[in-house]
Amino acid sequence: MQKVGVLTGGGDCPGLNAVIRAVVRKASQNNFRVIGIKNGWKGLVEADTIDLDVSSVSGILTRGGTILGTSRTNPYKKPDALAKVSANYKKLGLDALIAIGGEDTLGVANKLNKEGKGINVVGVPKTIDNDLNATDYTFGFDTAVSIATEAIDRIHTTAESHHRIMVVEVMGRHAGWIAIHSGLAAGADVILIPERPIDLDEVCALLKQRHSRGKQFSIVVVAEGAEFKVGQVVTKEKSLDAFGHVRLGGIGEMLAEEVEKRTKFETRVTVLGHIQRGGSPTAFDRVLGTRFGVKAMELVLAKKFGYMASLAGTEIREVPLDDAVGTLKIVDTKFYDMASTFFG
Ligand code: F6P
Repeated sequence: MQKVGVLTGGGDCPGLNAVIRAVVRKASQNNFRVIGIKNGWKGLVEADTIDLDVSSVSGILTRGGTILGTSRTNPYKKPDALAKVSANYKKLGLDALIAIGGEDTLGVANKLNKEGKGINVVGVPKTIDNDLNATDYTFGFDTAVSIATEAIDRIHTTAESHHRIMVVEVMGRHAGWIAIHSGLAAGADVILIPERPIDLDEVCALLKQRHSRGKQFSIVVVAEGAEFKVGQVVTKEKSLDAFGHVRLGGIGEMLAEEVEKRTKFETRVTVLGHIQRGGSPTAFDRVLGTRFGVKAMELVLAKKFGYMASLAGTEIREVPLDDAVGTLKIVDTKFYDMASTFFG
């Protein structure tokens, strides 16, 4: 019987369990055994695994998080880790490995594939940030946008009752997808994204303009990676993770302070944080994750390694991992300009 390994790496994301379940169901119909690798690449370094069969994935479709656990371990950054990855892949008798992750996890998968270490990798695009190239959407994004939209709706009622400006900081790293989608969906009055430096004069003018129209409250949605026109990304800590990413957060607080100082309107900030990644996936993400999982297993069966399942329009396709990693998919000017129709 052939064996396929499956791992989930990077930040957890609603829909991961849907992918794992789909991989296992498709694999079992094709006489493949599935080895779950715990905690991302860390599990392959440490040979920390669990056998997965149809009964072990029963009931997980609707559950958030990942039954396999996850980590931000980068085997390229730890001495001996790469050698252990190769050795354990062989020791476990794997014929292929399905890596479910974002830019970082799939970056490692792509490198392993290109270096010809005898590790047969297939990728599945995961991230709430939706910043992976070569796929229209990643799973998890729809859930994060739905959660953020509901939260902004709730914040709206307080903004209106108290005649306040409410700044809402959302996740998304260096891409403004969550901000622009949730901001548009919830009718935000200003949306600020990393792709467009924040011009405080412009933001305050828009808010004052609203007030002069008789609207005494406003909602400002700001992406965690947004930057002021002159200056650096605001970070709470300067520490970097194993993939060299700085931990973002804090822009909302700075923005609220500046806005209140300049406009004299009472202003509050809410940081949505990890709530955006938690809980049950939306129907869209359950279906997308399921389709990606089946496709990943089809690629394994076809021995098409070095590829990733991807969404193009309404179709699931395969794309080279190389096309997905390296550059981020960011919000284009046209989309932002369209959204700005609703500012102020
Ligand atoms: O990539 C997903 C994400 O939630 C980003 O939006 C955010 O910047 C980051 O992960 C937070 O990472 P952590 O959970 O390690 O703090």
